[in-house]
Amino acid sequence: MNSRYYLSILLISSIVLIAFMAMAFNREINPEWKRYQSEYKEFLVKNAKDESTRERAEKIDIGIQQIYVKSLKRADRCMSCHRGVENPFMADAEQPFRQHSGNYLENHPVAKFGCTVCHRGQGRAMNTREAHGEEHTHWDYPIIPSTYIQGACAQCHDLEMLKEEGGEKVAKGEQLFREKGCKGCHKVDGKGGDLGKDITGIGSRPFAYFSMKSVVGDHNLYNWIKQHFDDPRKIVPESDMRAFLSEEESMLLTTYMLTFMTEEMPRNYTLIKNVVLPKTDGASLYKMYCVACHSDGKASIYDEIFERTIPAIMNPAFTKTIDNEHLKKMIMEGRKGTQMTAWKSDAAGLTDKEIDEIVNYITRNRPDGKPEPFEYAKFSTDAKNGEDLYKMRCALCHGDDGKGGKSRLGINLRTKNIDPEFLAMTLRDGRAGTPMASFGEKGAGLKDQEIADMVSYLRTFSK
Ligand code: HEC
Ligand code: HEC
Ligand code: HEC
Ligand code: HEC
Ligand code: HEC
Ligand code: HEC
Repeated sequence: MNSRYYLSILLISSIVLIAFMAMAFNREINPEWKRYQSEYKEFLVKNAKDESTRERAEKIDIGIQQIYVKSLKRADRCMSCHRGVENPFMADAEQPFRQHSGNYLENHPVAKFGCTVCHRGQGRAMNTREAHGEEHTHWDYPIIPSTYIQGACAQCHDLEMLKEEGGEKVAKGEQLFREKGCKGCHKVDGKGGDLGKDITGIGSRPFAYFSMKSVVGDHNLYNWIKQHFDDPRKIVPESDMRAFLSEEESMLLTTYMLTFMTEEMPRNYTLIKNVVLPKTDGASLYKMYCVACHSDGKASIYDEIFERTIPAIMNPAFTKTIDNEHLKKMIMEGRKGTQMTAWKSDAAGLTDKEIDEIVNYITRNRPDGKPEPFEYAKFSTDAKNGEDLYKMRCALCHGDDGKGGKSRLGINLRTKNIDPEFLAMTLRDGRAGTPMASFGEKGAGLKDQEIADMVSYLRTFSK
């Protein structure tokens, strides 16, 4: 009884083993690519128009097709299955045999470029799953869905050319990147805000870098980036990123992100026709670095994510009170402990000239005439009295310690380099159109002496 039992187990397992071996053997002698090539050949033979084409078709040998591109360090075998890519006769065939669409291959001869430089994917692989780098194949750069493939073109071409010649999506993506103020929070090549991560090279980050937990569909770089743009907090639960993007805009920006590659193309693989230098006028710089938070600068905005007010920096009440020199200092130093980055060259990387351009832009509609001077220097002040007044009148919005923020309306007052004259005028006149009221005789009715006392108290914050 016992021995019969073991015998049958042995028999069954040998059968299973033999079946597996047979399958493996079959796959070895009859792999996917071989079947595709036989089908391709059969198709050509069967549909040959005349005898001589049939003869030629019969002579096609079946074997691994490989393009070795030395200077790109690539060996692409995609054509082992996609054998018809250059054959006009296959224009309407099924995949993987169809002739390549457009004139991509005429412009980029297969022998020089191969396939993966545009498509990504795993050039050497010989089955569809691995070649396309589908999920669970451990390949970091699966083939790019056709929606985003134009991101590959900018490795070698300028956007001006691409705009006209097959790369309109990536060109639009670049424009959005500039105009949505992404660099207000992100550094690229050493320049930009520091609230978000440095995104240099994001287009070539490996799979393991991203947390795929909440990504819907295939887990890959492309879906991560796109879905993160659609809704940052869905992909990164605690994200402070703010992006209000339409479906179309997310798609275009995803395409553009794929141009942020770490690998450089060899010279003879690039074709640059028309390089347009980045715009350096104040309006363009403001869009690139400031607009994401300050919007058009005309209204104070309560930021729900950071629970902090973003001041209206183009409000005439502000531009009238501040002179260019102090405004420049504010921008250079930023506000520690708030979203406001220090923009100077050794922090966010803006040059002196760029900050001047931005200052000129912010103040371009500054009202004529100066506000009535306060002459703070003439007062002898009592900071203790200032403190009492502050606690009564101001702390509700600006906080006991002047830090503002976290469910408070008022901004951070703990900054160095703020001119006391500016502070005094701001307290006296307020900022029309924002929650900051006027506290002077024409407003809440405080005396100049009381205002001066408060200013002297405010100045103790930055000590
Ligand atoms: C083992 C065969 C095989 C290899 C090797 C192969 N492919 Fe494919 N490919 C297919 C088949 C089959 C299809 C059609 C079905 C599908 O999309 O999976 C296809 C479809 C495609 C498509 C169209 C996808 C779409 O959504 O329309 C692209 C692009 C592509 N392959 C690129 C490549 C690139 C690039 C390589 C080389 C890295 C490659 N393929 C290697 C078999 C292969
Ligand atoms: C210069 C860049 C470039 C190169 C090189 C390139 N392709 Fe493409 N390929 C594209 C673009 C762009 C599309 C998408 C066309 C569209 O959807 O309008 C595409 C589409 C495809 C498709 C989908 C069907 C189609 O034709 O639209 C397949 C399959 C494909 N390519 C295979 C290959 C293979 C195989 C190679 C290498 C022999 C290759 N490609 C080389 C840019 C390229
Ligand atoms: C690996 C670099 C590389 C990539 C990626 C690449 N190209 Fe090119 N492309 C070139 C080079 C180099 C030439 C010039 C032809 C040559 O050297 O063989 C060229 C030629 C062209 C031309 C013909 C222009 C002319 O004036 O002759 C067009 C159009 C073009 N590319 C568009 C594209 C588009 C669209 C994409 C993306 C789908 C793309 N290229 C991807 C390098 C590239
Ligand atoms: C208010 C600041 C802010 C703005 C504006 C902003 N981001 Fe972000 N971004 C962040 C923060 C914070 C993170 C890190 C948390 C996360 O991954 O969501 C982030 C993450 C990212 C990531 C993932 C980076 C990585 O390495 O994981 C990308 C890509 C990105 N942002 C692109 C953009 C683009 C493109 C724009 C413009 C449309 C933009 N961001 C605007 C704050 C911002
Ligand atoms: C990530 C969001 C963010 C970006 C980007 C940003 N700011 Fe700010 N900015 C703030 C916040 C928040 C404050 C108020 C901080 C506080 O509580 O004091 C502020 C304060 C300021 C102030 C002080 C205004 C006042 O009333 O004293 C100026 C000036 C300013 N920003 C200019 C700029 C300029 C110019 C840029 C672009 C180079 C810029 N900001 C980019 C968020 C931002
Ligand atoms: C109702 C809330 C609120 C109260 C009360 C309030 N502030 Fe403000 N304060 C603000 C807001 C909001 C701003 C930014 C306005 C803007 O430009 O968008 C501001 C701006 C300021 C500024 C300009 C700071 C800078 O860096 O430009 C100073 C100084 C200031 N407040 C001091 C005070 C003092 C002192 C008091 C009490 C006498 C006070 N505030 C009371 C809300 C308030």
